[in-house]
Amino acid sequence: MLNIAVFISGSGSNLQSIIDNCESGNVNAKIQLVLSNEPDAFGIERAKKHNIPAVTVNHRDYSSRQDFEDAICQSLKDYNIDLICLAGFMRVLTAHFLNQFPNKVINIHPALLPSFAGTQGQQDAFDYGVKFTGCTVHFVDTGVDTGPIIIQAVVPVKQDDTLEILKKRILAQEHKVYPQAIQYIAQGAVKISGNKVVIDGLANALDFAEIYPPAKIFDK
Ligand code: GAR
Repeated sequence: MLNIAVFISGSGSNLQSIIDNCESGNVNAKIQLVLSNEPDAFGIERAKKHNIPAVTVNHRDYSSRQDFEDAICQSLKDYNIDLICLAGFMRVLTAHFLNQFPNKVINIHPALLPSFAGTQGQQDAFDYGVKFTGCTVHFVDTGVDTGPIIIQAVVPVKQDDTLEILKKRILAQEHKVYPQAIQYIAQGAVKISGNKVVIDGLANALDFAEIYPPAKIFDK
C-alpha cells in the first residue's frame, strides 16, 4: 500500500477522484494527509468528510519559500509518505523541498506538456487556437512543469467551445489519468530513464490518430 499526501489549493476535485479511487480499491494507496496552502480551500472539507487528516500551511505566514517548505516538511514528518501528489497546488516547490523527496513528487497539469506550462494551461491553449489539448501527470523537478511525463490524455478543442466548456472536458480526463498514474506507481510499474518514464507491462502498442476538423476527403 502506497502512503500518499495530496497537496491542494482549491476545489480539490482531483483530490476527490483520488479519494474515490482509493476507497473503491482501484488505486492501491492510502491518503495519509491532505495539505493546503489556502485556508478556505474546499478540498479541506472533502478530506474531512472522508476522515483524512487535513492541514493548512499558509504561505503568507512565512517570510521565505524555504521557511514555508520547512513548515510543510514538519507537517509531513509524522507520516511515512511514499508519494506527494500535487493536485491544483498553486505554489512552486523549490530544490530545497524537492531534494528531500527525490522522484516522489508528481503533479497534474491541465495541458499537453511541454506546451502551455504555467498557471493557466487551459486558457493559454484555448487562446492559442490549438485543435487538441489535454492534461499531463508528471514527476516534479525544479523547473516549472518540466519533469518526466507519466501519462497524458488528449482532449479536442471544438470550434464552438467556450473556455469553461473546455476546462470541464479537460477536468473530466484529469479525474481519470491522475488515479491511474498513482496506481502505476503503486504497483511498482514506473521507471524513470533520463527524462522518459517507462511503464512495465504496456504490451499493446497504440496505433491511432484523431484529426480535427475532420479530414473528410479520406472518408470515401
Ligand atoms: C486542475 O485543473 C489542475 O490541473 C490545475 O488546477 C486545477 C485544480 O482543480 N493545476 C494547475 O493548473 C497547476 N499548474 P481541482 O482543485 O478541482 O483538482
